Amino acid sequence: MTEVVHTPRVFSGIQPSGGLTLGNYLGAMKRFVDMQGQGVETIYCMVDLHAITVWQDPAKLAHATRELCAGFIAAGIDPAQSILFNQSQVAEHTQMAWIFNCVARMGWMQRMTQFKDKAGKNAQNASLGLFAYPALMAADILVYHATHVPVGEDQKQHLELTRDIAIKFNNDFGTEFFPITEPVIEGAATRVMSLRDGSKKMSKSDPSDMSRLNLTDDADTIAKKIRKAKTDPEPLPLDIEGLEDRPEARNLVNIFAALNDQGVEDVMRDMGGKAFSEFKPMLADLAVAKLSPISGEMDRLMQDPAEIDRILANGADKARGIAAPILKKTYEIVGMVGAGA
Ligand code: TYM
Repeated sequence: MTEVVHTPRVFSGIQPSGGLTLGNYLGAMKRFVDMQGQGVETIYCMVDLHAITVWQDPAKLAHATRELCAGFIAAGIDPAQSILFNQSQVAEHTQMAWIFNCVARMGWMQRMTQFKDKAGKNAQNASLGLFAYPALMAADILVYHATHVPVGEDQKQHLELTRDIAIKFNNDFGTEFFPITEPVIEGAATRVMSLRDGSKKMSKSDPSDMSRLNLTDDADTIAKKIRKAKTDPEPLPLDIEGLEDRPEARNLVNIFAALNDQGVEDVMRDMGGKAFSEFKPMLADLAVAKLSPISGEMDRLMQDPAEIDRILANGADKARGIAAPILKKTYEIVGMVGAGA
């Protein structure tokens, strides 16, 4: 068989589960913006169907979806350059997900650490959707034949599963139809940690709001959270090696580097040896300078929800244009009568 070469295409998604954190921004959104306009098609999705794998209040879900769209645009995603849409408007995602539910194995899903974390002690009471979540995620990606998926470190296992699903489908049906997707986990902020505990990921579900920066925080709140961020009593070390075993210091340096588009080495060159009493105000100023314009623009965009809905509907049309023929071909490969018509 001649090897199929898939055209590069970028896809990624973010859940509209309420509130965007600095982790979402640095680990994902900012990098989505960097990938835009590089000559490769970029597709970014608000994954509302993923969000409802745990309970979502309907009014809040709708608000969070629009707010996330505003966040994408405020961060620099241009709906004319990237396809920007919400998942539930493109039925091909769930149609493809069913096929993948029949490809993926129970044992694969049971190994997913995110399921174990989210289901907690009472896994029997978790939704079936939460268990099947990674198959829908594979569908999100593969229904566009996406080749590159920028994400934070926490999504690595799900992307390995996406590759496993593509490989098994291709093997089972004797085809090279699906690309074997590359995760793109790069930069200083692939895992932004809690401001209160350097061993925990910064997350919107952490009960303490002091543990995270939200994209909607005002300047005073940002400054206060950074001032109060947990650190050790030593000044910053002189080089990167000195950050080992100092997770809180490492996290603040990583955040500084990512916000300032610098390498960690460069930050250490400028900041090494400084006390936190000196470094933290500099980090706070930088965070305010980078994040405040985004939250201001989000507020402005949220004044006109009808315009946001138009952008999402338009993005969904474009997304469907790519997904529909790929789904049709998949059905044909699987043997569904009528798919080839
Ligand atoms: P979600 O909504 O939890 O997070 C969205 C993106 O933000 C990244 N992220 C972080 N990066 C660095 N540090 C952190 N503390 C941090 N917290 C979150 C995540 O890694 C992610 O890239 N399953 C996905 C959504 C999804 C998806 C997809 C992603 C659904 N289908 C297809 C890519 C392709 C999720 O729950 O992300």
